[in-house]
Amino acid sequence: MNDKQVVAQYALNYVQNGMTIGLGTGSTANCFIEALAQRYQQENLKITVVASSLVSQLNAQHLGLPLIAIEHIEKLDMYVDGADEVAPDMTLLKGRGSDLVKEKLLVEAAEQFIVLIDSSKQVQHIGDNFPIPAEVLPFAWQLVQHKMRNAGAQVSLRETGSGLAVTSCGNLVLDLVFNAELSTTALNNLLNATPGIVEHGIFQGLADIILLADKGKVTPITSEKK
Ligand code: 5RP
Repeated sequence: MNDKQVVAQYALNYVQNGMTIGLGTGSTANCFIEALAQRYQQENLKITVVASSLVSQLNAQHLGLPLIAIEHIEKLDMYVDGADEVAPDMTLLKGRGSDLVKEKLLVEAAEQFIVLIDSSKQVQHIGDNFPIPAEVLPFAWQLVQHKMRNAGAQVSLRETGSGLAVTSCGNLVLDLVFNAELSTTALNNLLNATPGIVEHGIFQGLADIILLADKGKVTPITSEKK
């Protein structure tokens, strides 16, 4: 097993009968979906799952997990997802999968947010390895770009191999690289306060448990948040 599979397997320790579980997006989240589906089949577990993206939805459906739509939930027992970067204060950067709106909605709705990472995701500062993604309303992207440039960011409109990246909510994604002078808290506040940005990739003060896998060993890192 690689570290993504190891940490996904470990996360099953937090699953209990009767839970409604949010499924994240990405390769680590996929490992968790697979591990959960296996346990569901083997133990006849009573759970319900909600997906944060079309990809995770199809994956969960394919593996026979009992899926309900995000429209039908008011809260979750837990949400399990990966991250692109994790800072020492447990702030996360997410969003390589371009589907930030549902991810943050499910995080906020969850009693517990469990983040699955391997050691390659640990950084000193958010933005060290990746630009910060901001999901923007299509008609607002140039206004947001202008505001971000004025705040010192280098901005690029995210593209895929076949054209512009479009999220499952029909929005565009701006990738933002800021100079190191702005703190993560200042960036979080700036992005939260910018009209036209529907959601962004900084998840500050939201993670409850980070499960860190390193060479096959998992270390849980917890916060005192909720
Ligand atoms: C998707 C995400 C993912 O959790 C993040 O990109 C990590 O992906 P992976 O597990 O494939 O490394 O935020 O929007």
